[in-house]
Amino acid sequence: MYRLFFQLVFTRMDPERAHHLAFRWIRLAARVPVLRTFVAALLAPRHEELRTEAFGLRMHGPFGLAAGFDKNAVAIDGMSMLGFDHIEIGTVTGEPQPGNPRKRLFRLVEDRALINRMGFNNEGSAAVAERLASRTPVFRTTVGVNIGKTKTVPEGEAAGDYVKSAERLAAHADYLVVNVSSPNTPGLRSLQATEALRPLLSAVREAADRTVPDRRVPLLVKIAPDLADEDVDAVADLAVELGLDGIIATNTTIARDSLGLKSRSSLVAETGGLSGAPLKERSLEVLSRLYARVGDRLTLVGVGGVENAEDAWQRILAGATLVQGYSAFVYEGPFYARAIHKGLAARLAASPYATLAEAVGAETRKAAK
Ligand SMILES: Cc1cc2nc3c(=O)[nH]c(=O)nc-3n(C[C@H](O)[C@H](O)[C@H](O)COP(=O)(O)O)c2cc1C
Repeated sequence: MYRLFFQLVFTRMDPERAHHLAFRWIRLAARVPVLRTFVAALLAPRHEELRTEAFGLRMHGPFGLAAGFDKNAVAIDGMSMLGFDHIEIGTVTGEPQPGNPRKRLFRLVEDRALINRMGFNNEGSAAVAERLASRTPVFRTTVGVNIGKTKTVPEGEAAGDYVKSAERLAAHADYLVVNVSSPNTPGLRSLQATEALRPLLSAVREAADRTVPDRRVPLLVKIAPDLADEDVDAVADLAVELGLDGIIATNTTIARDSLGLKSRSSLVAETGGLSGAPLKERSLEVLSRLYARVGDRLTLVGVGGVENAEDAWQRILAGATLVQGYSAFVYEGPFYARAIHKGLAARLAASPYATLAEAVGAETRKAAK
């Protein structure tokens, strides 16, 4: 039914308008107690065997919503109602900003992909912190807060902008993510170089510890799939050295070579980050490489082209403790997260592993022998 609706309604609408419309429905539904209880009962993960622990946090299941969908933390309960067990809000920047001019989001339906150059449109760290502080959660959901650089802040002053966000948001975050991998903020990805990343991550760690002295807020870094393999290794080593909690692999790609012939149309020329199915292979590759490098010393989060339970299972076997999705939700609709949790439970039952934790990295370990 969703596919038919998508064909008839959403594909005829501007993708960003369609996003806002769907978003409004989700938020509205989550405000009606009977409806949200009913939908959550249908879609939320309730497989005992999928219970997951990541960086000291207990979750009902490993699958969550990737950053960028709920930038301003306005629909945490709504997305949780749809079965995403953790919600990563943001990217939130130090200051509010409108993002890039429209049109900035494009669908590549044949490739089950999206191209976006949203440019961190968000209400800024002060407004989002206030919203999180006044929130009365309906569902027990893990909330990650993803932070990035305000566009107008010069690269040399980036750390100060991240620190401002961390100071305001860390207290409201179950975990914090330093995003240095969006292709839509000029110069942002150069912060992935270890000389720039080391002081940045240290400053954010210090800010989180200073503002939240009674709890160690888990800190992760989110990386691009376009890093060269040696740079992936360098970030992994740095994350271990600095005592980070994890790495999220990956953000969107600026590469276009994985697109099918059909999509090599006018849209391919659009600048921005490509996500969805064409990102699958490289994201998985980066994840396996990270796991081979760091093993259990860091918690890895696999994201990029996860369309179904099999994809999520492959990420877990490659080394991910948590898995996230965004683009496939657009194509699959409201049953997306449920199908993934349900399919994961079936795969785990049919596997030689007694627990999900035992399955994490099993394929990568096998390949290394
Ligand atoms: C429209 C759109 C906006 C996004 N915005 C952000 C963002 O603000 N911060 C971020 O870290 N990632 C952002 N992402 C990247 C996703 O979180 C994810 O890493 C990427 O899309 C790959 O996953 P997918 O193939 O399941 O979409 C965005 C992705 C899309 C499609």
